[in-house]
Formats: sequence, C-alpha cells, structure tokens
Amino acid sequence: MTAKWTPDSWRARPIRQVPAYPDPERLSEMEARLGKYPPLVFAGEARRLKAALAQVAEGRAFVLQGGDCAESFSDFTANIIRDTFRVLLQMAVVLTFGAGLPVVKMGRMAGQFAKPRSSDTETIDGETLPSYRGDIINGPEFTPGSRVPDPARMEFGYFQSAGTLNLLRAFATGGYSDLHEVHRWNLDFAARSPLAARYQDLAARIEETLAFMAACGMTSLSTPQIRETDFYTSHEALLLPYEQALTRVDSTSGDWYACSAHFLWIGDRTRQPEGAHVEFLRGVKNPLGLKVGPTTTQDDLLRLIATLNPDNEPGRLTLISRMGADKVESLLTPLLRAVKREGAKVVWLCDPMHGNTISTPSKLKTRNFDAILREVRGFFDAHADAGTWAGGVHVEMTGREVTECIGGARRLTEDDLSGAYETFCDPRLNAEQSLELAFLVAEELKARREPAVAVAAQ
Ligand code: PEP
Ligand code: CO
Repeated sequence: MTAKWTPDSWRARPIRQVPAYPDPERLSEMEARLGKYPPLVFAGEARRLKAALAQVAEGRAFVLQGGDCAESFSDFTANIIRDTFRVLLQMAVVLTFGAGLPVVKMGRMAGQFAKPRSSDTETIDGETLPSYRGDIINGPEFTPGSRVPDPARMEFGYFQSAGTLNLLRAFATGGYSDLHEVHRWNLDFAARSPLAARYQDLAARIEETLAFMAACGMTSLSTPQIRETDFYTSHEALLLPYEQALTRVDSTSGDWYACSAHFLWIGDRTRQPEGAHVEFLRGVKNPLGLKVGPTTTQDDLLRLIATLNPDNEPGRLTLISRMGADKVESLLTPLLRAVKREGAKVVWLCDPMHGNTISTPSKLKTRNFDAILREVRGFFDAHADAGTWAGGVHVEMTGREVTECIGGARRLTEDDLSGAYETFCDPRLNAEQSLELAFLVAEELKARREPAVAVAAQ
C-alpha cells in the first residue's frame, strides 16, 4: 500500500541535488513567508493544460515546450521575455500547419531557475568553490560569497516569476499574439534566412490558408482564437522547499496543486522511484513531466508511471525523452513498446538538447544543430516503429541572437561561439536556429502525414 502523501512527506525520503544552506533557520523563515504569498497560477489553469495534454496523449495535438536552460535574475527585462515568447509563437504557428493539429504551448519560463549539477564543486585555476545551482539558489559569479546558497533568492525568484507571468498573460490575450502578426514575423524570417527558398514555400501556404480563412469570415475581430492564445509555464521542480511553500489546496476540488507553475517536471538526475522529488510530485494534481534519459530502465520507468499516474489519467504524465541523437532509436523504441504494452496513457516529448551537449577545446558547452535535428527525426522514427504518437518537442532556446549552438543555416562554428555566448547554464538555440528547427520539423510532420492522407483518399 502506498504511504500517505502530505506536502512535506518528501522530507523523509532520500534526496539528491540539495543546496547546503548554511543557516537552516533563515531557510525555514523564508519557506514560512512564501507559504503566505498568493499562488502564481490557479488550479483551474493547470486542469485546462491537463485537458489539452490529454488530447496530445490521444494523438490529436502536439506540444511545443521551450525556453532558457536557466532563467537569470540579471536577464529580467520585458524585451527578453517578449522575444522568447514571440519566437515560441512563431514556431507554434509553423508546427500547427505542419502537424495539421493544435499545438499546446509551454514556456520554460517564469520559474526555471534551479539547476541540477553533475558535480557539487567547480574548480577554476586551482580554486574550488561550490557549483552554481541556478539564481534561485546561489550566484553564477565565481567568488566564495556568491556561491553560498541564500534563501532570500527564493523570494526574488517568486517575484520575478510573478512579473514574467504577468507579462506573458498580457501578451497571450492582449493582442500581441494575433495569428496574422505572428505569420508576418515568420514571412520576415523566411525572407532573411539563407535557406529562404526552402522556407518560403511553407510560409506561402500558411499565407494562403489565412487568406482563405479571412474570406470565410474568420478574422481577428470575429474569432478570438485568431487574436489570443493559451500559453502555459513550466520548470523543473528541483528546489523542493520552494515548491512546497507554493503548494496549496484548491478550494474548488479540495486537491493539492503546486502553484509555482502550470506544469512541473522531474529531471533526469532526481527521478529515483523512492526519492524525494518523485514523492513530492506524486501528490500534486498538476500535469507532470518526467525526463527519460539513457540510463532509465524499463522497470524503473513502469514503476515511475504507476507512482506518478496511478489512475492512468491522460494528460497527467508527459515523458520527455533525452537520449542523444546516436542512441535515440535503439534506447527509446523498447521503452515506447513497454509503455504501450502496459496500456499507459502518456504524452511523449523529444528533448533533443540534453543528450547532445559537447565541450569545445576552449571548454565551452555547445550543441550541434544537426545532432538536434537528427535526434528529433530519430524520435519520430522510433514512434513510427512502435506505433505510438510522437507528441512534441522540448527545446532550450531564446529569442535573442546568441551564439551558443553550432550549425544551422548560418553555419555557426566553434570560433563564432565567443561572439554572444550568454547562457548561464546550457547552450540554447538562438531565434533563427529555433525557427529553422520549427520549419524543418513542420516539413517532416507534413511529409509523414501525407502518405496516410493519400491512402485515405484512395
Ligand atoms: C534541463 O532540462 O535543463 C535538464 C537539466 O535536463 P535533464 O534533467 O534532462 O538533464
Ligand atoms: Co539544460
């Protein structure tokens, strides 16, 4: 029998990736203070997202989840939020057209602050300090003071999340997300890209479709779906004292919800079936994600599915595969088959970033655009083999013109990386590379559904 869940039952479980706060009393005071603050999201919104994800689990929709690897306190400006949101919308329009299906949009935004690390310490020029764990825990500067975990950072993280969320809600419903406008940005991108000829065709077909819809009377004025969008927030639920402090009972249903974001996921380093992170998340009713990496065994995966989604509710659990381009087909296909055999209703997403990180000779982390695209294709192939639904993509990206990932239409090289290498953690696709990925994935989606359409039409 499963033991009773309470918001703090995770505290009795083994836990990984815990910051060493020097003053436990200050930590408890901060938890108590956050516990009184208003929730950032409402249970009803999380339920709406769960319903949208249930459509994905049934193969009737697609997901786009993206944003920074780590949001940062110093990058808290309207322009940065707007640019990432804008690129996500642009990608979503292209993918909607490619898939011929609704696209559920989730940002790694408004709370993606805590980072798991492969080592507790970092050594530079002979000096060893605690690793940077994300702005909600300690500072990125390589100084002893900055690397001490500070509970006051949780409060700043809360307010930054609130400010970001406020702007995102305004963008989503206040006229900024008008489909015609988003499409105009895409036309502009397609015209400027070195691969203009390739992208123009898809852009022109979207143009034609919008003109047809307008001719049928579906304009921004007549149809709210054209001028507004649903946009959800998500992050890795790593810092459990913060997550617990923002967990509330929903007065409508009497259920517990984590109110720091709509969707929370468990990272690849904290997915132990008996561990604290799994224990905490099993008890909240939000839609959840679980990273599935190369070391995930079939047994563990089935056990985690049973723990996190005991009622087999579609939309509750999203499995985010991050195998690496070379391994995705061989490692993922057996897992897809096992999950299917079990009858588990889950969403499968492809994170083509975290299995493809490489280090340059000058010790910068980067990712190759080709490997990223290859993993997405391998993910689709694995699903085609197993007869399961490839539900979407999860990417680390930004709306800014950074130089962090190599390759893409402009053929960024390792020598270009120092130009605008701004990430606080992993390398992100820049605005152009993100859109390229969306166009290429859309082509792929379209090509894969066309044979089926041709057969149906015979
Ligand atoms: C991440 O998504 O930023 C991350 C750390 O991923 P993973 O847990 O899959 O390594
Ligand atoms: Co990352």
